[in-house]
Amino acid sequence: MDSLAHKWRAEQQQWRVQGLSRSLESLDRVGGEGLRFRDAEGRELLSFASNDYLALSGHPELRRAAVAELGHSGVGAGAAPLLGGERPVHAALAKALAAWLGEEAVLLFGSGYLANLGLVQALVGRKDRLYADRLNHASLVDAARLSGASLQRYRHGDPEDLARRLRQGGGGRAWILSDGVFSMDGDIAPLPELLDLARQYDAVLILDEAHAFGVLGEGGRGSLAHFAIEQPGPLLRMGTLGKAFGVYGAFVAGPQWLVDVLRQRARSFIYHTALPPALAAASLAALTLLRGAEAERRHLHALRRRLREALPQGPWLPSESPIQALLLRDNGRALAMSARLREAGFYCPAVRPPTVPAHSARLRITLSAGHGTAEVDALALALQSALAVS
Ligand SMILES: Cc1ncc(COP(=O)(O)O)c(C=O)c1O
Repeated sequence: MDSLAHKWRAEQQQWRVQGLSRSLESLDRVGGEGLRFRDAEGRELLSFASNDYLALSGHPELRRAAVAELGHSGVGAGAAPLLGGERPVHAALAKALAAWLGEEAVLLFGSGYLANLGLVQALVGRKDRLYADRLNHASLVDAARLSGASLQRYRHGDPEDLARRLRQGGGGRAWILSDGVFSMDGDIAPLPELLDLARQYDAVLILDEAHAFGVLGEGGRGSLAHFAIEQPGPLLRMGTLGKAFGVYGAFVAGPQWLVDVLRQRARSFIYHTALPPALAAASLAALTLLRGAEAERRHLHALRRRLREALPQGPWLPSESPIQALLLRDNGRALAMSARLREAGFYCPAVRPPTVPAHSARLRITLSAGHGTAEVDALALALQSALAVS
């Protein structure tokens, strides 16, 4: 054990020197809703880091729904979904999600990470071929590895590179894995081209809509609605309840056969405790609000344009989503920028490798409909002066 502790202490020291060390910080929410938090030193910070895109996580309707369900069902589900953990509120949520997306069925999972693992593991065979965007979320990368299928990572957002690889062919079925909105860059996947390629090569596209549902398209229906695609063809979608929904948990949506297979085969579904019923109730309340939140979505996208226009010279990555990344490259520079923003009252942590590729450290700014225009203007000013000195 001593040699193990020694090895890891040395590693940790190395990470610190390289600006790669991560620390866990408790932020106390101010007033129970909104985006203001207090750090350990008592400093109040406006967060530009959460994925609470519609500011629903503290919404009174969600609280009311959760509290009512708590009174009825208690706190934990107490068991796996197939062993008595399923409550009527889970079924009601799954049904409402499927209706919202115009899909036949939905299966709930404990988290997006689990949903991606289960979906890919259940469907993709060892002899199949997986083609994954290079910047997919870690859960899709891990899911691909777990499946045991051959894995090729195509150039980010590049259908031509994907087509070149698909043309080479191989055994088994081809699967394409992509985020709908990329979590650390904020750009939107070229969905029409990916679906064309899936059709052409008899492949299936698995799309992770974690950052797209609630944010993009009419009714917040995500990337398909954003591109106004009505007949997508070979597409299976996954979404999370922990981002625009403001809750926790996730789901896979698609044809009935898919949900039937996942229920039998997806290990991360079969062997996990069902979502706490109160969270399912809060998610149901969130869905009602989210579907009708067109004004909030318009505000959110106006904030995005406003931020970019206020800082046109910033090293922005291309993005049409509320995820706005300033590419600083150097870990130390990203950390220094984040510290300066904190001094100005903003919480905006530096994102560094391995979350992003080497030499691409950045500030990942996430906007929310809960932000006001004056707050975004103030952030832009703070960014401007921090960029000037770091
Ligand atoms: C694109 C993407 N997929 C999946 C996940 C995992 O979702 P969850 O946090 O519900 O596990 C996340 C974020 O956490 C994500 O950004």
